[in-house]
Amino acid sequence: MDKLIHDDKGNTTISNDGATIMKLLDIIHPAAKILVDIAKSQDSEVGDGTTTVVLLAGEFLKEAKPFVEEGVHPQNLIRSYRTASNMAIEKVKELAVSIEGKSLEEKKSLLAKCAATTLSSKLIGGEKEFFASMVVDAVLAIGNDDRLNMIGIKKDLQRVAAAAGGTVQTTVNNVIDEVLGSCEIFEEKQVGNERFNIFSGCPSGKTATIVLRGGADQFIEEAERSLHDAIMIVRRAVKNSTVVPGGGAIDMEISRFLRQHARSIQGKSQLFINSYAKALEIIPRQLCDNAGFDATDVLNKLRQKHALASGEGAPYGVDINTGGIADSFANFVWEPAVVKINAINAATEAACLILSVDETVKNPKSESAQGDAAAGAMGGMGGRGRGRGRGMRRR
Ligand SMILES: Nc1ncnc2c1ncn2[C@@H]1O[C@H](COP(=O)(O)OP(=O)(O)OP(=O)(O)O)[C@@H](O)[C@H]1O
Ligand SMILES: [Mg+2]
Repeated sequence: MDKLIHDDKGNTTISNDGATIMKLLDIIHPAAKILVDIAKSQDSEVGDGTTTVVLLAGEFLKEAKPFVEEGVHPQNLIRSYRTASNMAIEKVKELAVSIEGKSLEEKKSLLAKCAATTLSSKLIGGEKEFFASMVVDAVLAIGNDDRLNMIGIKKDLQRVAAAAGGTVQTTVNNVIDEVLGSCEIFEEKQVGNERFNIFSGCPSGKTATIVLRGGADQFIEEAERSLHDAIMIVRRAVKNSTVVPGGGAIDMEISRFLRQHARSIQGKSQLFINSYAKALEIIPRQLCDNAGFDATDVLNKLRQKHALASGEGAPYGVDINTGGIADSFANFVWEPAVVKINAINAATEAACLILSVDETVKNPKSESAQGDAAAGAMGGMGGRGRGRGRGMRRR
């Protein structure tokens, strides 16, 4: 589901992107700020899975709460959570399937599948195939160039300069040869009611620009963010080309694996690992909730499928089209393995960090400084405060 966020200046943003939503929220509690930070780090590390990471961290804490309230020492919980996280990551690596060594055409269609999965939940999800192949073309067009800004979603002079091998100038007077760039073809094309300058055959680098038009501003902005996610995912998939089944399939499989492992443990860490395993089920559960399905029903079907001894149920996840379960791998609901690995790692670390805090202390100085500021602001409303303000400006 999308969120509409508005601030006191009247700006409205409609977004589904976890990092964007977290960034725009006015969060004061220090522990909650940690969640904002992990969403941001997931965004910069892998570009997608920001909602997943926040959801997971929240659920780990929720599962830990009853234990802490019962008097379990947080260090015990932390230790078990870290073990569980390491085992989960190993399992993701084990289950990941490589898409290496395929022909260009095959690779293109595989990458497009990953991009389409990313775009599924977004506003432009209805046209995901169209946008997915556009994103794949853009990423492959720039080849091995690591600079993300070589793919632009808007007009950008810097990118033209980089591609043509020139330097951006502030004036056209006395232009010297060294700052000039070149390209094979320059043309001006009319797209809608705007004119675009198109530079093709540039020598110093490959760039791609996607032009988004139409709809409300908020829609275009969200489309840009969604395409950014997809571009990041395709770039990731090109680099470390292993994928895992999405739709909660990989999460259910790790959950099953951890529960099975927990049964072999003696002592209370069995309970903690179990609670970690249970927390992972939040992903398929949330997918069901968002799609309007009965989560209990779907989760039971998934548990049963994943428990099959033959292991054939492993790729089964939520089928958001029918409300049942389906083989995510066969349906091409694919996610790069790095998204999951990073999400599990970051969410566990954030949860452990919060668990390890037993007291929040506020610096009394900063408190009194805030008090002064507040008093000053109140004074500003009265005549005395205003007079003082004017006096200061004159000086
Ligand atoms: N067609 C689909 N069927 C089932 N599940 C899907 C489908 N497409 C995507 N998903 C699942 O949706 C989840 C991703 O949702 P979403 O993109 O909203 O969040 P995110 O990637 O965690 O965060 P964000 O995109 O906000 O950074 C993944 O678990 C993915 O497997
Ligand atoms: Mg996503």
